[in-house]
Amino acid sequence: MPGQVIINAEAVSWMRKQPSSMYDLVIADPPYNVGKNYGATVDSVDNRGYMKFLDEWTLEASRLLKPHGTLYAFMGFRFISSLYDILEKDRGLFFNSWICWHYTQGQGRRRGFSTRHDDIFMFTKHPKKYTFNLDDVKVPQKYYRGVNNMRGANPGDVWEFSHVHFCQKNRQAHPTQKPESLIERMVLASSHEGGNVLDPFSGSGTTLRVCQQVSRGCTGVEINPDYVKMTRERLRRPFRGFDGVDPRMKRVPLDLNDPAVRSEYTEDHKRWFLKNHESDMAGFEKEMLRQYGPFTRRKSGKSTAPKPRNADLFTK
Ligand SMILES: C[S@@+](CC[C@H](N)C(=O)[O-])C[C@H]1O[C@@H](n2cnc3c(N)ncnc32)[C@H](O)[C@@H]1O
Repeated sequence: MPGQVIINAEAVSWMRKQPSSMYDLVIADPPYNVGKNYGATVDSVDNRGYMKFLDEWTLEASRLLKPHGTLYAFMGFRFISSLYDILEKDRGLFFNSWICWHYTQGQGRRRGFSTRHDDIFMFTKHPKKYTFNLDDVKVPQKYYRGVNNMRGANPGDVWEFSHVHFCQKNRQAHPTQKPESLIERMVLASSHEGGNVLDPFSGSGTTLRVCQQVSRGCTGVEINPDYVKMTRERLRRPFRGFDGVDPRMKRVPLDLNDPAVRSEYTEDHKRWFLKNHESDMAGFEKEMLRQYGPFTRRKSGKSTAPKPRNADLFTK
C-alpha cells in the first residue's frame, strides 16, 4: 500500500534535491500572489519575483514528472497567461485541458461581475502517452436509453464543486482549502492505483487525504509547520466520504421507466459514480424516489409504480 509523506520545507529547495522522473502526477496549487495570509508566508511579491517563482517551481515539477506523467496547476487570472507560456514554451510540456472550476458561492462585487471560478491547467510530459482513466471520472447520463452505455459521459472541462464551507465537518483552518472531490477527479483520471503523486504546495493536505483513500502514494510539501501538523491530524481521522460532490453525480436519468431496469441501474449508479461518496447515496435515492415514486411488484410482474412525472414528455 503506497504511503503518504508530508514534508515541512520550501518547495523549490526541496524539489531541487530530489531525483528526476519520480512522480506519475503533480498537483500544484501554489500561492497566486494575491496577498493571502498563509501564516508563515505573505503571498505578495513584485511581479518579477513572482515570475521567478513560477519559473523555478515549474522547472523542478516538470523534471520530477515521469516521462508519461501529468501536471495539474491552479492559477489566478493575473499570471495565468504567463503560466501557460512557461509550461508550453519553457518547460516543453503539452497542453491537454484548461479546466474551469465553477463554484457557486463567494464574495459579491458591486461594480463588476463576482468571481465564481478558478482556472486549472492540465499539461502532459508526452503528447500522446499519458494516463487518462476516463471510466473512473465519468458523470451520469441525462436520459436512460436502452441502446446507450449508461456507464456515463465525459465530465467536460467545466467542473462544478462548491467550496468547503465553514459549517462542514471537514473544513480545516486554512484559507484556500480545496474540495476533495475536485482533487479526486484529477487523481482518478491521471494516475493508477499504487501510483506516486506530488503536491508541492500541499496546504491543509487535501491531495494527501484523497490519495490515501484511493490507494495512491502522495508526497506533500508545505512551508507552514502549522499546516503540516493539520495535515497529519487530517490523515489520522476516520474516512466518511469525500467532501463535496459534482451535482451531476446525484442526477437520476430521465426515462428510466422500467422498474426492473431502474432497480439494476440504481445499484450500478452507486457503484460507478458514488463510490467514495457514501453520504451522497441517500440524496440520490431520494431523488430517484421523487422522480419515479415508490414501487412494488404485483404477482403478474407488473409494477404498481406511479407514472413518472416525465414519462409523457419523453416516451413516444
Ligand atoms: C493555495 S494553498 C494550497 C491549498 C491546498 N491545495 C489545500 O487544499 O489545502 C498554497 C499553500 O502553499 C504554501 N506555500 C507557499 N509558498 C510555499 C513554498 N515556497 N513552498 C512550500 N509551500 C508554500 C502556503 O503556506 C499554502 O498553504
